[in-house]
Amino acid sequence: MERDDEVRAAAAVYLGVDPAELALTGSTTMGLALVYHGLALRPGDHVLTTTHDFYATHEALRLAAARSGAEVEQIPLYDDPATVSADDVTGRVAAALRPETRVVALTWVHSSTGVKLPVRGIADAVAAANAGRAEADRAVLVLDAVHGLGADAARPGDLGCDVFVSGTHKWLFGPRGTGLVWASAAAGAAVAPIIPSFTAPSFGNWLTGDDQPSPFGAGNTPGGYQAFEHRWAAAEAFAFHQAIGPDRVAARTAELATRLKDGLAEVGGVRLVTPRDPELSAGLVCVEVSGRDPFEVVERLLDQRIVASVTPYREAYVRFGTSIVTTPDQVDAAVEAVADLAR
Ligand SMILES: Cc1ncc(COP(=O)(O)O)c(C=O)c1O
Repeated sequence: MERDDEVRAAAAVYLGVDPAELALTGSTTMGLALVYHGLALRPGDHVLTTTHDFYATHEALRLAAARSGAEVEQIPLYDDPATVSADDVTGRVAAALRPETRVVALTWVHSSTGVKLPVRGIADAVAAANAGRAEADRAVLVLDAVHGLGADAARPGDLGCDVFVSGTHKWLFGPRGTGLVWASAAAGAAVAPIIPSFTAPSFGNWLTGDDQPSPFGAGNTPGGYQAFEHRWAAAEAFAFHQAIGPDRVAARTAELATRLKDGLAEVGGVRLVTPRDPELSAGLVCVEVSGRDPFEVVERLLDQRIVASVTPYREAYVRFGTSIVTTPDQVDAAVEAVADLAR
């Protein structure tokens, strides 16, 4: 378990948080489930989420609501992702907050469209709604951060969210089967563990009959023997990004995404879905190729060793991701290949 603490320490430096506030999980999906089931939702509570979130958020909330009797509401934050506006998004969240809202469940960078939310502005709106509320009546802002972590340099403290949930196998290039949940002291106190932790003091309490409280991070790190070798290797991923510098990683990711978007925008028959503005996007770039099935586009690109994917949503787009392991030449080759397909 000392090795777990090394992972927490590396992640805490990277995220600028207290290591005791970090739970280690197997994935984003596991982290979201732990949080949404761990919060003591009551009948009549309102949970606000959006139509743009991934299955993991929607399904975790559906299951948690079925157990608790809370109401889950999904709202759209924009009509056209390409022309999304930060003020409009923040205004829509603010307008949907009710006195009964206990959870605001959002995704930092939408894997459906590539839109990056103005999380700080939204957090300020949630804080304004919470002003004067008793602790138990406050709304907590929970963020699925998986497409921001390692692509954008903002930390939980900059974003202003209460809970930050992510896997590390995407933009951070950590091993699969690894993830984390960070919660502020107040939010962490409201999340009850769901899976027995093997970490002290939980296990020790069982042995001795003691009743020592667990810090959020240890108490919410699921027990059972995990894929420890993978988990412990995640420390290297945090250290790697830290050594390069999260700002430089984010700048390079945005530079290449902008290059890709600029190139694709010039191609007739291609519609950019993701906003051009780096303030409202990260490394994901989604497009529509007119008259072409997205699965076919992805397969044809793969023939040329260009890896794209189809967004796993009802409205499916072709999706690219530029990162620090992508070169400008590869970006240009992708633009060329899409142009060939669009002809
Ligand atoms: C927004 C979002 N959240 C969560 C996930 C799942 O992440 P994990 O594999 O870490 O559970 C995905 C995609 O796989 C995603 O796009």
